Formats: sequence, structure tokens, C-alpha cells
Amino acid sequence: MRTLNVALDERSYPIHIGSGLIADPELILPYLKTRRVAVVTNDVVGPLYLAPFVAGLKAQGLRVTEIVLPDGEAHKDWATLNLIFDGLLGDRCDRSTTLIALGGGVIGDMTGFAAATYQRGVPFIQVPTTLLSQVDSSVGGKTAINHPLGKNMIGAFYQPKLVLADIGVLNTLPDRELKAGLAEVIKYGLIRDLPFLEWLEANIHRLLARDPEALAEAVERSCRNKAEVVAIDETEQGERATLNLGHTFGHAIETGLGYGEWLHGEAVAAGAVMAADLSRRLGWLSDADVSRVRSIHELAGLPVKGAALGADRYLELMAHDKKVSDGTLRLVLLKQIGQAVISAEATQEQIRASIEACC
Ligand code: NAD
Ligand code: GLY
Repeated sequence: MRTLNVALDERSYPIHIGSGLIADPELILPYLKTRRVAVVTNDVVGPLYLAPFVAGLKAQGLRVTEIVLPDGEAHKDWATLNLIFDGLLGDRCDRSTTLIALGGGVIGDMTGFAAATYQRGVPFIQVPTTLLSQVDSSVGGKTAINHPLGKNMIGAFYQPKLVLADIGVLNTLPDRELKAGLAEVIKYGLIRDLPFLEWLEANIHRLLARDPEALAEAVERSCRNKAEVVAIDETEQGERATLNLGHTFGHAIETGLGYGEWLHGEAVAAGAVMAADLSRRLGWLSDADVSRVRSIHELAGLPVKGAALGADRYLELMAHDKKVSDGTLRLVLLKQIGQAVISAEATQEQIRASIEACC
């Protein structure tokens, strides 16, 4: 097992990475306030992992409430969030109950938001089961639900007590989901870790083949990058925004097509290519750099062209982005490969040109 630390003073927490971790409830026990837990999962992950996971917890003498939500990004909303509260209140979960998110980023984001608000805040633990959630969403305390007008618009910063990333559960992940997770892995190389990008260029085939050593390496290097950024800028006053490379374009695709049509990672991949194209228009990247950004996503089997929403619609949707401040859209762009910046320098005409060239 490899362990990293997210350094946030009294709210610091470990990330354990390894195979078979969900079968070891003793990893969880030290992080519980009392012997009362509620496990939140969905109707895809539940049939695969809930019963043995809960049996392991019960064998340790824990009282467990099980909450199974409908699967999918389309259910990352108020109505589904309320099902978590129904389950907690229905089973008389008190303020010392620890919520455990067993699932991908949708379950992690919703359970985290429920934990932040249930009885004004209860502890929670992330057990991420997708590559995307293991390398990104389970770390750093961003929790949210979607609004029809914008993705992740309702939420809170709320850190977990522990992240347990079991590489073994990735074996049941559909190929398309594995590839979507790779988009967030590639992101770290592009924004701040050139040696990691080089490693990915040489090892992406091992990741696609689910080589456990390669997966553990990718999860660890991704989480190390994420933990460093979160420790510097927990609430996204500056540097943390660089983790959103490709996301402003990508969120426009997700919202514009309807949540769940494109996977989050797929939209981020196409968005990263658009951000690279725009960085070239600003004179920061060369044509070869843009090709390199496109190639690594292609090697990972990810889309490199955005959805054909039309530039006007993209611009309208992008105007709702959380990085809009005082009416000015700030975008995460690349000064060079391996170095991201947050910039308001691109003109509407340049942004429009990149959208038209890349969709
Ligand atoms: P997801 O949670 O929808 O999971 C993808 C699919 O895989 C689902 O159908 C899920 O049920 C299924 N699944 C999960 N684990 C499985 C397993 N081991 N075997 C088989 N099937 C499995 O999607 P995701 O890609 O994990 O997360 C995307 C979400 O994460 C988006 O809502 C995005 O906004 C959010 N996100 C949040 C952050 C953050 O910092 N909080 C960062 C990135 C993304
Ligand atoms: N996924 C972006 C962030 O955590 O800030």
C-alpha cells in the first residue's frame, strides 16, 4: 500500500492506494468518530461491492446504514441528494455518523455535500471506485451537485477524513470510463508535471491494459500533484484553478448536450485540446505542442474534437463558468507544456476561433 498525505493542518488526511483495500475495514476504523456509519453508493456499484464492504464493517461491530442512489451524472441533483438525507434521517443517523462514499465522482461529490450539510456537518470518507475519482475528485474537498444552468454550481468545500483508493475495483470499470479517467491523469502532466507527461506517453498502453503497477503509479503521481495544489490553495483563490484545464470548454459540452451524454473526462479531453489551440493563438504553444496535446489524448482513446454546439452556444455556456469574475472569463491555458496559467488575455474572437477550429 502507498500512502500520501493531504497537508491541511488539523484537517490533514491520508490517501491510501493499493489493491484489495476495500476488503480491509481496519483501514477505516481509526477515522471514525463512533461506530455508526452510513455507506452511500449507487445501483451499479452497489451490486458489485456493497455487500462485502458492509459485511466487513459489520464484522468490526459497526452499525451500518445503506443508501443506494440511482446511477449517473443526470442524478447529481437536489432530488437525489435528498434521498441521502431521507436515508440518514429515516435510520436516525446522528451528528457523529460518518458518511462513506462508495462509488465514482458523482457519488463522492454528492456524499461530500450531504456530509457538509447534514446536521451542519458530519465526517466523511471517500472510497473512490473509478479512475477519475481516484486521481481527482475524491481528493481536495470539492463537493457539489449540478443545476440545469450549470455544472457543480451548488456545493461546498468539505474535506474527507480519509481516501481509500482500491486499484482492484478498477477491473470492473467499463473501458469508456477508464479512458475518461485518463483525461484527468493527463491533465496533471500538462499543467505542472512534465516528467509525468513523458511517463504517460511511454506507459499509456499499460494503463489501458489495466496493469495494476502502472495504475497504482498513475494514481499515486496524480494524487501527489493534486495534494500539493490543494495544500497551497484549498479554496481556489489562485493556483487550484489550474486543475480545471479544459474544464470551461468541457463543462459547456456537458451542460449543452445534457448531463451524462458525454462523460466528464471525455469533455475535459476535448476541452484541453481547445485550451491548447487557444494557447497557440496567444503565442505560447507551437503547432508541435498542440499536436502533442492532441496525440496523448488520442493515445488514451479520448475525443479530441468538441461537440458541435456552435460557437455562440459555447460562449453563452462558458459565461456561466465559476471562473467568471466581474463579468470577465478567465481560462486555464498553457504557457508551455507542463506549465498552466489562469488568463483573461484571450479575446472573444480568439476563443471563438479555437472553438470553431476544434469542434
Ligand atoms: P461516475 O461517478 O458517474 O462513475 C462512472 C460510471 O462508472 C458510473 O456508471 C458508475 O456507477 C460506474 N462505476 C463506478 N465505479 C465502478 C466500478 N468499480 N466498476 C464498474 N462500474 C463502476 O463518474 P466519474 O467519472 O467517477 O466522476 C465524474 C464526476 O466527478 C462528475 O460529476 C464531475 O463533475 C466530478 N468531479 C469532481 C471533482 C472534484 O474535485 N470534486 C473533480 C473531477 C470530477
Ligand atoms: N478537479 C478540480 C479541483 O479539484 O480543483
